[in-house]
Amino acid sequence: MDRFLIDGGAQLHGEIRASGAKNAALPILAASLLTAEPLRLRNIPQLQDIVTMNTLLAQMGVKLTLGNNMQLDVDASDVQACFAPYDLVKTMRASILVLGPLLARFGEADVSLPGGCAIGARPVDLHLQGLMAMGAEISVDEGYVKARASRLRGADILLEKVTVTGTENLMMAATLAKGRTVIANAAREPEIVDLATCLQRMGARIQGAGSSVITIDGVDKLHGASHDILPDRIETGTYLVAGAITRGKVRIRDTQPELLLAVLSKLQHAGAHIELGDDWIELDMRGRRPRAVDINTSPYPGFPTDMQAQFCALDTVAEGSGVIIENLFENRFMHILELQRMGAKAKIEGNTVIITGCDNLTAAPVMATDLRASAGLVLAALVAEGTTEIRRIYHIYRGYEDIESKLTQLGASIRSLSDDERHPPAGGDHAPATGGPAATPASSAS
Ligand code: UD1
Repeated sequence: MDRFLIDGGAQLHGEIRASGAKNAALPILAASLLTAEPLRLRNIPQLQDIVTMNTLLAQMGVKLTLGNNMQLDVDASDVQACFAPYDLVKTMRASILVLGPLLARFGEADVSLPGGCAIGARPVDLHLQGLMAMGAEISVDEGYVKARASRLRGADILLEKVTVTGTENLMMAATLAKGRTVIANAAREPEIVDLATCLQRMGARIQGAGSSVITIDGVDKLHGASHDILPDRIETGTYLVAGAITRGKVRIRDTQPELLLAVLSKLQHAGAHIELGDDWIELDMRGRRPRAVDINTSPYPGFPTDMQAQFCALDTVAEGSGVIIENLFENRFMHILELQRMGAKAKIEGNTVIITGCDNLTAAPVMATDLRASAGLVLAALVAEGTTEIRRIYHIYRGYEDIESKLTQLGASIRSLSDDERHPPAGGDHAPATGGPAATPASSAS
């Protein structure tokens, strides 16, 4: 299993580009199932989660053709199996996003239930309730959701909780339903707006995406389209924190500053000087130690839970104490236990962690437990004294494109190592090192 070795101490300086957003690309790839005509997608990030979604689509009969410059052509004209197997769904919960599109276009879908997750229970009951309100017959049999509907019909759906993939699944299903669907208490994430924009290009009639009430008037058919995936705001935010924690100066281009207001405001509280352009953000710490910040995660436009671990890392070396409250997932503090192994002063109380900044973290072998937790550990390693070894980095390849080269470009000292390189087998017979994104993911937290 691959690991990162990171030498702490380098102040990060320089410019990198933001990749396409994982959490927009995944639902948009699933949306390709809604039409028999080809979809051309650009700015698709090269990530393990995208490989998983593509594998899932391919085993249904969808043809995928990778072009230059992160372009992907997706053709779902010949879907043979409306089926998502446990082996794939267990590695990526977002696989559930194929449920709505399959049911809406083909009238049937057998999709494995995702099961438990490293960061919390994460049920999909609201996805299923919404589809049932649209007339689907749903049963759960041997771990699989079996959904049937001759044609979905429009419905008024009030989501009990704000759910991102739940809103996306229902919005996609409703595009081909008969009549009008109104989703109230919908999630407002920018990735939902990006999905809606792509669906509109495919001929869907959607209003209100980005607000808490989305209205969809079903049509008989959708058609092909071209779409550029929006930039990844979580990746952008992570590299900004990398600049802040190392007291450096970094510029992220090809991003959308207006999608990061909550994160930028916290970075300013931490003492960062922020400059914005139309599609870039520059953070400058002017060599100063960050100040600790309080964080309270909430659905967009609030502070994203997917940036919580990164700010925990920042607070471990900041001046003062920060109180971090996680409101979305019940078990999303696994990184704290690893940060404590590096000398962090932190106390977990229920869904809250109180972190008191220390002068120095020290390198230690640590374990990544989920995607964003591993980002937090990478950030801590950038400032720890010595060389930190981070294990199970397949988690990070799920969501960060080219992380080694991007951090290297900013001046960090980071390299990956496979177990084979670390412990060569007797006789010196080296097995080839496994490439990052091809490594096997074992958990699906995003
Ligand atoms: C998405 C993101 C993930 C992010 C999360 C919250 C993708 C692919 N993943 O995950 O990166 O961390 O939003 O911003 O976009 N819930 C239920 N029943 C349901 C659905 C959700 O109780 O049927 C609960 C969840 O357990 C959780 C909360 O609602 O406590 C929010 O989860 P949700 O927004 O659905 O997260 P995901 O869509 O899985």
